[in-house]
Amino acid sequence: MSVVPEEAETVSLSFPTGFVWGAATASFQVEGATAVDGRTDSIWDEFCRRPGAVAGGDTGEPGADHYRRFADDVDLMSELGLGAYRFSVAWPRVRPDGGAENGRGLDFYDRLVDGLLAKGISPWATLYHWDLPQALEERGGWTVRDTAYRFADFAESVVARLGDRVDGWLTLNEPWCSAFVGYASGRHAPGVRSESAAVAAVHHLLLGHGLAMERIRAAAPVVPAGITLNLFPVHAASGSAADQEAARRIDGLQNRIFLDPLLRGGYPADLRSDLAPYGLAELVRDGDLDLISGPIDLLGVNYYRSYLVAGGGTPDGPSEWVGASDVEFLTSGKPRTDLGWEVEPDGLTELLVSLHEQYPDLPLYITENGAAYPDRLGPDGTVRDADRVAFLDGHLRAAHAAVSRGVDLRGYFCWSLLDNLEWAEGYAKRFGLVHVDFETLRRTPKDSARWYAGVIERNGLT
Ligand code: FCB
Repeated sequence: MSVVPEEAETVSLSFPTGFVWGAATASFQVEGATAVDGRTDSIWDEFCRRPGAVAGGDTGEPGADHYRRFADDVDLMSELGLGAYRFSVAWPRVRPDGGAENGRGLDFYDRLVDGLLAKGISPWATLYHWDLPQALEERGGWTVRDTAYRFADFAESVVARLGDRVDGWLTLNEPWCSAFVGYASGRHAPGVRSESAAVAAVHHLLLGHGLAMERIRAAAPVVPAGITLNLFPVHAASGSAADQEAARRIDGLQNRIFLDPLLRGGYPADLRSDLAPYGLAELVRDGDLDLISGPIDLLGVNYYRSYLVAGGGTPDGPSEWVGASDVEFLTSGKPRTDLGWEVEPDGLTELLVSLHEQYPDLPLYITENGAAYPDRLGPDGTVRDADRVAFLDGHLRAAHAAVSRGVDLRGYFCWSLLDNLEWAEGYAKRFGLVHVDFETLRRTPKDSARWYAGVIERNGLT
């Protein structure tokens, strides 16, 4: 018997009208030009200088030199037919050392936004994609409340300048990473290893989000605004009590610790109790949760993979998982990307459907999804990244499946437009649709870029 149906149907998977097709980057990962036009150090400039902190000793220079080459990059985006570009604004350019406003820093984003608009590309701005001014870290960074207020001032500067032209605002990118990878395991800047510092960072990041939302609303009341979280479906390895408990704790620390205060007005009861030893209750002041749970117009979802967890592991080394360092993370034998992450498109459908069921009125955008593969620029000037095409195709099908089940998904931003500095992994891990030669800074669209351009043109998959 043939496995191919006799009359194979060609099904076209179209996305809703107005669906936003984009690609994303982040300031520190692509801009370079770390010491020009008044920019001062961020925590990542400092972290990159620490021996052994970043693979290959890589730093923010040259990045992809996007600061100087942005106009060419906008031309590239236009050739690919991108409808939107999600970039982030470097705090140490706009308010060097976290202090007074620096017009020259804002000028760059002004030029970028105008360049995008001239090509019909929607500017989407993330205010914080991890580049805290180092001077603020020296005053306690996200472990102190004051940083949330400094963030609101930075947000106000940016919205005052760009608020008339940006089409979507995101306050924070993945506060989970900023708090737990920055302050608990220390694998990311600022490289602190303190569980209570990480918990304090969670609350102050959320407070910063709430305060920044107020400033955005005041200056750009009709522009959609929200926050981006990295969310993971969490599965227990078995029905055993220990594995179920592991899944509860990881889901709490990864997902609910942000979703609940933002969308339900409080930290979940189980986490309040789990995190009591690290001082969560003492951090929360009257009015904080009202601010944090103020209305948002959209939730940005960054999706890369799911977690499969079991209880009873042995902690080895500093962990992101405050109070849960004994949880074991298992693999299930699926193909993996160059970062070792298993390819799990079904998890994206599961995540989107679950968010929609819990928060039916909240529009969702996939603000990041993509994969690192060891791309090679061939002698004929092509990059044959068939693995990335398959990854993106699978995840877009998964996103479409969620849409078919009624999820209000309004956009998809591929991570990333350009190869860039993959944080502690350095430049060796390539996520771009466009290849960057970090010696010559030459850009070469990969096969995936051309494939994605076709998807955008058809507003769907075939
Ligand atoms: C996310 C980050 C983004 C990028 C991707 C691969 O966690 O937001 O900057 O590094 O992972």
